[in-house]
Amino acid sequence: MIEIHHNYNLKELNTFGISAFAKAYTAPSSRQQLMETLGYYVAEDIFLMGGGSNMLLLDDIQKPVVHVCLKGIERVEEKDGKVLLKVMAGENWHELVMYCIDQQLAGIENLALIPGNAGTAPIQNIGAYGVELKDVFHSCEVIDLKSLECKKLSLEDCKFGYRDSIFKNEAKGRYVISSVQLELTDLTQVENYTMKTDYGAIKQELDIMDGELTISSLAQAVINIRSSKLPDPKVIGNSGSFFKNPIIKKEKYEDILRMHPQLPSYPVDEMHVKVPAGWLIDRSGFKGKRNGDAGVHDKQALVLVNHGKATGKEILELSKQIQQAVKDRYGIQIETEVNLINE
Ligand code: EPU
Repeated sequence: MIEIHHNYNLKELNTFGISAFAKAYTAPSSRQQLMETLGYYVAEDIFLMGGGSNMLLLDDIQKPVVHVCLKGIERVEEKDGKVLLKVMAGENWHELVMYCIDQQLAGIENLALIPGNAGTAPIQNIGAYGVELKDVFHSCEVIDLKSLECKKLSLEDCKFGYRDSIFKNEAKGRYVISSVQLELTDLTQVENYTMKTDYGAIKQELDIMDGELTISSLAQAVINIRSSKLPDPKVIGNSGSFFKNPIIKKEKYEDILRMHPQLPSYPVDEMHVKVPAGWLIDRSGFKGKRNGDAGVHDKQALVLVNHGKATGKEILELSKQIQQAVKDRYGIQIETEVNLINE
């Protein structure tokens, strides 16, 4: 039996802390309940929710909201120092990282403290501090929303890119991800695992911590850095980076450099570089800015925040002002990373 709630406030379920109501809300916590729910709504469009960490709710949601809450972590294979870990979609990502560290399973320690759930991590190929989900991703199980057929998608099938995957493109709205399988290194079996510490801020933080380098201390370094500049959504509503770092042509970058010689860049390929949106927004004068309760974080201009009672529309309005200002000043169009719901 599935339990359906009517006029359900989603405020506690989205990390922006925006008050918006679901006309109908259900939270399947097992695969069987999920199948039952999808079967019940098969003729209707549904709205799928995971950890609520990458969405801006602009209005109440008229479609039935299905909140995927499936739990469970299981070792499905152990071979040659690798463990294939199956993680159900509703597991919290950061708790999974902590679990893996405790189990001496290496691979996702740089991804500590990323909000959201395991099942939604593939959608935008979460990444931070030199590691992306795709580096450890093996496969995921999906259910086709129309046919209710179950399928397994491989690493290649998912077509991961920077904050991008098949789930944001040709497969958008087609599947619900019910579990992911990660291929992790078992440190009880393998001695020569190379940790990724080359991201600038990490080295500095590890030096300050001045202890032995382990996956646990590396995760702690990431936690220290993230907590120093990203707001804790439990204290102040936010969705992490609101914008993607734009990828621009090298010639355009060189042009901009003539006027703004300090603009940082990261290599992408022969023709393109990525530039930090946070830098562009900061230099456009928006860091710490506030329009009512909609604001820009004072320690990281890439993050928009809800100081209390902001509506999704107020935050969207601020984001548009930022996009315009960056466009006017640098000629660069920055795109939102957060999903705008019901725009
Ligand atoms: N910067 C400023 N002012 C700011 C913010 C940044 O000048 O207000 C400059 C920094 O000094 C640095 C550059 O911009 O030179 C880049 O900043 P940072 O290293 O903080 O990383 P980011 O590019 O802003 C990206 C990810 C983050 C991820 C970090 C670390 C995107 C959109 N964001 O941020 O991801 O944690 O790198 O790997 O790619 C997220 O997706 O929610 C997220 C937080």
